Amino acid sequence: MPVALWCRGLLLCFLGLCACMEEECVLGVVGQPVSLPCSYPQLLSLANFSIEWRKEDEVVLRSVWRDGQNVEELGVNSATISDDAEQTGNFSLELPTVDLMEHNNQTFSFFIISEENPDTEVCSVCLRVAASFSSPQLERKDAADGKEAAFTCHSSGGFPKPSVLWFINSTEMPPEGSVWTVAQPAPDTLLYNVTSHLKVNISKASSVSCTIRNPPINESRTSTSHGTQDSPVRSRAAESIWIFSTGLCVVVGIMVVAGVVYQIHLDRISKRKKREFQHQQQEYRGYKRRHLVIEETDTVKLESKETDV
Ligand SMILES: *[C@@H]1O[C@H](CO)[C@@H](O)[C@H](O)[C@H]1NC(C)=O
Ligand SMILES: *[C@@H]1O[C@H](CO)[C@@H](O)[C@H](O)[C@H]1NC(C)=O
Ligand SMILES: *[C@@H]1O[C@H](CO)[C@@H](O)[C@H](O)[C@H]1NC(C)=O
Ligand SMILES: *[C@@H]1O[C@H](CO)[C@@H](O)[C@H](O)[C@H]1NC(C)=O
Ligand SMILES: *[C@@H]1O[C@H](CO)[C@@H](O)[C@H](O)[C@H]1NC(C)=O
Repeated sequence: MPVALWCRGLLLCFLGLCACMEEECVLGVVGQPVSLPCSYPQLLSLANFSIEWRKEDEVVLRSVWRDGQNVEELGVNSATISDDAEQTGNFSLELPTVDLMEHNNQTFSFFIISEENPDTEVCSVCLRVAASFSSPQLERKDAADGKEAAFTCHSSGGFPKPSVLWFINSTEMPPEGSVWTVAQPAPDTLLYNVTSHLKVNISKASSVSCTIRNPPINESRTSTSHGTQDSPVRSRAAESIWIFSTGLCVVVGIMVVAGVVYQIHLDRISKRKKREFQHQQQEYRGYKRRHLVIEETDTVKLESKETDV
């Protein structure tokens, strides 16, 4: 693979593109300012001269000096050079906002025009443009056991075409053929929307992440779907056991109370019957004393029954 790449590079060189590839390009980010460097201190010795920054053949900035005075300056789309450029020799071009359509892969050249040197190119700088992708949105559709789970990762508004990486449980790469990615530039802005699909047989507990990589600006944006853990299920089970046992306690308590009440009721009935029987059998004088004894033994009996329960 590296050999193949090297060969392709060599071929491009022979086709005359080598110089372009080797040219140090400046990277601009859409919507941000950028500075295209050019230094030419030799100008300090000249009294009458003009400078021009051109994008391909179109003049982006022109500045004219007469006897060391800046007599004319024209900047297209707010392109500027520093005010003291003529003193410092720093003629770097400042673009206030990078635009993808307007600036990407354009070569900007700096020219000096004077009586001695008409139209001399001093610098040539290429500008490469990149744009940040939005934070990816990851959707997860878990399936029943033994079926494929489906994931969709979507990100928008970036440039150039990104690469998408999927990871299962942070480290495993998904099997070959399980990923399907579509990246399409919007026709009006050229910014890419990327949608990647992953279909894989994994458990609901597995975590899955997708990363959108934009190498020119060293950008990696990741979204992770953490698997559903067992713990919520377990705590729900614990909750239902708790409810069940509380219910059981209440029911048993009611039954115990009902049993005790019924027992007291039965004892009262038998006591009354016994009393009526004794009343018929005994004389009135002996009754009071015996009645107390019976009542005492009855209370003891009742208490022992209660503790039995
Ligand atoms: C610069 O230009 C001005 C006016 O065009 C002229 O008078 C002057 O002599 C020029 N200076 C030099 C050094 O050529
Ligand atoms: C030239 O000026 C720009 C700002 O206008 C600055 O960013 C850059 O560092 C300067 N370059 C040098 C060599 O001083
Ligand atoms: C790109 O994605 C954004 C946000 O998801 C959406 O609003 C826009 O319509 C998409 N553009 C294209 C060309 O698909
Ligand atoms: C997932 O399992 C189903 C049936 O068990 C099988 O048909 C399918 O090929 C599997 N998919 C992958 C990506 O292994
Ligand atoms: C890219 O970013 C990573 C982490 O954000 C950093 O460690 C690395 O040095 C960066 N590389 C370059 C070339 O900027």
